[in-house]
Amino acid sequence: MSQVTLLSLRAGLIYLTAGILAGLGMAFEPNWLPFLLAPHAHLNLVGFVSLVIFGVAYHILPRFRGRPLWSDSLALWQFRLANVGLVGLVVVWIAKGFYSGKMLDHILGTFGLVLTVSFILFVVNIWKTLEE
Ligand code: HEM
Ligand code: HEM
Repeated sequence: MSQVTLLSLRAGLIYLTAGILAGLGMAFEPNWLPFLLAPHAHLNLVGFVSLVIFGVAYHILPRFRGRPLWSDSLALWQFRLANVGLVGLVVVWIAKGFYSGKMLDHILGTFGLVLTVSFILFVVNIWKTLEE
């Protein structure tokens, strides 16, 4: 199993743990809903579901295609950026529960952009791997 697959699967399990704890927090204390809903949704759906999909895809799709992954280093960068983007979004979403202001919106947008770039790098790498 490649380094990026192992990292993605491990990180996915850690995000799932954080995600369900946030869900439990909201279930017990509905006052936390405003600042935990988006973190909960994205820790679970991006952190767990998407990262596990990335990790499994990096392992299995090159094997289905009968050739190596197009770029291992791009995959590692994709993994790093996904973590920066997701953790950044979660921290800013929680901070927005306590403070407001345009500044936090810009920071949120920046981490959102980082996460978007990471998803696009995944698409490019898998696309090139599957290409004729
Ligand atoms: C122990 C496990 C979980 C608990 C206790 C939990 C609890 C909650 C709670 C309390 C809410 C807020 C509902 C409301 O609006 O009042 C919520 C929303 C949500 N949960 Fe979970 N959840 C769990 C696992 C998951 C998992 C595994 C996923 C995805 C893979 C998930 C996805 C979502 C999403 C997307 C929302 C937001 C829905 C919306 O936009 O209204 N949850 N969850
Ligand atoms: C580039 C990646 C992504 C960015 C920048 C992003 C950003 C956002 C933002 C800003 C919101 C509104 C949050 C709020 O203020 O309530 C949102 C909501 C939501 N997103 Fe994402 N998202 C991304 C990827 C995804 C993915 C991949 C999924 C599912 C697999 C997803 C599922 C959801 C859901 C279910 C909601 C509604 C739940 C809520 O109210 O928080 N997002 N997203």
